[in-house]
Amino acid sequence: PDTLRAAARGTGVRIGTAVDMDALAEDDAYRGEVATEFSTVTPENVMKWQLVEPQPGVYDWAAADRLVDFARAHRQTVRGHTLVWHNQNPAWLTEDAYTPAQLRALLKKHITDEVRHFRGRIWHWDVANEIFNDDGTWRDTIWLRNLGPGYVADALRWAHQADPRAKLFLNDYNNEGVNAKSDAYYALMRQLKAQHVPVHGYGVQGHLGVQYGFPADVRENLRRFEALGLSTAVTEVDVRMPLPADTVKEQAQARGFTVLLQACLLSRRCESYTLWGFTDRYSWVPGVFDGQGSATPMDEDLTPKPAYDAIRDTLELA
Ligand code: G3I
Repeated sequence: PDTLRAAARGTGVRIGTAVDMDALAEDDAYRGEVATEFSTVTPENVMKWQLVEPQPGVYDWAAADRLVDFARAHRQTVRGHTLVWHNQNPAWLTEDAYTPAQLRALLKKHITDEVRHFRGRIWHWDVANEIFNDDGTWRDTIWLRNLGPGYVADALRWAHQADPRAKLFLNDYNNEGVNAKSDAYYALMRQLKAQHVPVHGYGVQGHLGVQYGFPADVRENLRRFEALGLSTAVTEVDVRMPLPADTVKEQAQARGFTVLLQACLLSRRCESYTLWGFTDRYSWVPGVFDGQGSATPMDEDLTPKPAYDAIRDTLELA
């Protein structure tokens, strides 16, 4: 097969990418790759609250609708991302402007309206994103401070009510292996299942770096969540490196991508493996990590790196 999508056929794992909607509109080569290489897509930004409700009660679904239509035209599923987060919330959404009861009503309305808008067209929703710190304590956010930890169960219930067929995920980074953060997710999700809260999946983002080494026990971690009856997904993979890139770093990078892919392929209920962008032309990494980059499987000219071949070969062997 000459695409990742074709190589993944029959594996039970969909292969995906985050999509930059400006690039999809303006860049024909980029658009062509999204259409042919992938069987699932995630909006990199355009379903986030800041983008869909710029003014209170004023919705703008245009960009997100374009992605959902694109996916349908190319027989791709959509991972909706993300409903509850501490980041990229609207500027008008502040603790000074609203009481806790009002914030709870706003969150319910946001989730209900967004999930209902896309009802029947979203495969997986990342309902809550990045709710724990790396040490396993709750992340201090506008939602935790004002609603308490029950906001997660509430968000899941509201989302389920608005689209009963969408699979509902909790999603985070640095939770790929067994560690304090993934332990916190394990405890929470076991409790949610026991309380019959509608939760269906555990997402590991997979933002790795060659200079940090790679988690060794990803399969073991995914497996314990699957034993709770949950699906799993690898949702945002990229493997950054200190610049400049060289052959050694690119080989290490290829291994980072396949460590996560193999864990997914070896797990019984891992449903997708999504890249957080497939080309360095649009990657978020250099803008956030000074002196780092080259984090995706294709360079700025869309030339495949060793990582691309490694992903394809791993899929082909599965
Ligand atoms: O749209 C505005 C544009 O109008 C303005 O001129 C420009 C100036 O800075 O900013 C643009 O918004 C940027 C937006 O991306 C769209 O490009 C924001 O500044 C920028 O902060 C935002 O970054 C996104 C980041 O989430 C925000 O935290 C990245 O693209 C996106 O890749 C990243 O994705 C997150 C996942 O959602 C969750 N997991 C981690 C992952 C990486 O950080």
